Amino acid sequence: MLYFTFEMAEEILLIAGVVIAVLMIFRMYICGERCKSKTKLHGKTVIVTGSNTGIGRATAVDLARRGARVILACRNQVCGETAVALVQRESGSKNVVFMQLDLARVYMQGTTEDGLGLMFGVNHIGHFLLTNLLLDKLKECAPSRIVTVSSYLHNFGNLDFDILRTHKEFGVGESPASLFWIYSHSKLCNVLFTHELAKKLQGTNVTCYSLHPGAINSDLYRNMNKMTRRLLKPIAALFFKDVEAGAQTTLHCAVQEGIESLSGRYFSNCAVQKVKAKAQDDAVAKKLWEVSETLCGLS
Ligand SMILES: NC(=O)c1ccc[n+]([C@@H]2O[C@H](COP(=O)([O-])OP(=O)(O)OC[C@H]3O[C@@H](n4cnc5c(N)ncnc54)[C@H](OP(=O)(O)O)[C@@H]3O)[C@@H](O)[C@H]2O)c1
Ligand SMILES: *[C@@H]1O[C@H](CO)[C@@H](O)[C@H](O)[C@H]1NC(C)=O
Repeated sequence: MLYFTFEMAEEILLIAGVVIAVLMIFRMYICGERCKSKTKLHGKTVIVTGSNTGIGRATAVDLARRGARVILACRNQVCGETAVALVQRESGSKNVVFMQLDLARVYMQGTTEDGLGLMFGVNHIGHFLLTNLLLDKLKECAPSRIVTVSSYLHNFGNLDFDILRTHKEFGVGESPASLFWIYSHSKLCNVLFTHELAKKLQGTNVTCYSLHPGAINSDLYRNMNKMTRRLLKPIAALFFKDVEAGAQTTLHCAVQEGIESLSGRYFSNCAVQKVKAKAQDDAVAKKLWEVSETLCGLS
């Protein structure tokens, strides 16, 4: 039997209080900067891809709260409609709809029949084509914005145009190592795409931004094996941002007033960041645009 004296109980409570306070401050630090803009979006329409879960869904909730008509563009109807109900409930807005969009299919309908892997197709080519198909509408509705969620891992990416042009091998592979590289390449493409897009959009009042959302405790790990997931789960819960915090830089790029002159730039933690030379190379960005047009059948 253990007996606690009043003093001991007091001490334990004090220690527990300090531990909780330290954890809360630590979590606040981990969750980073918040989007401070109070911008309302009544009369505006926003399309959010990947919005049935994770960061995308948290972003959709915030945009709906601001009064926008929010389109959840997801590939799976059941997941999409479940998310609509959830976003409506959390935002208190009924102005949320589902539209089916399979970013892999978008890409498959292009002229490539082989080669490019799924992750590269979805992360870069699918969004490249979607953006291009919406450009005229975006110009008509200006001021408007295009926000592309890249990643810090773009720093590890590289572009090999010989492989890209011949459609062979680029973005194919299943091992964790090759997936890491493909992911990094595709995220570098997101940054370069935004760099080139900003140039094409000069004078239109349509602006664009790419960003790193932070390390987020989202559904991103659901495809990993059980062991890795078990290992990552407690680490992610403590050290990674929750999805609501993970949406803040996307929201900053989407709604913050006065960042229009930063069109084409890369953001992290709700602030513009410097990128390596390879992520702002004019010639490479232009070439990537041309190759991407060919790959998705736009030219
Ligand atoms: N989590 C992080 O730590 C982290 C860090 C840096 C960058 N990011 C970036 O943040 C973005 C969101 O990540 P997340 O963590 O929120 O990921 P997530 O929870 O795994 O969500 C990914 C979303 O993409 C959708 N998707 C996948 N393939 C698709 C396709 N073919 N067509 C249409 N939609 C498709 C998924 O839909 P289904 O449910 O149908 O699969 C899901 O809604 C990604 O671009 C990711 O690269 C994340
Ligand atoms: C862009 O916005 C400014 C300020 O609202 C406006 O004066 C200008 O006409 C717009 N340009 C175009 C191309 O829409």
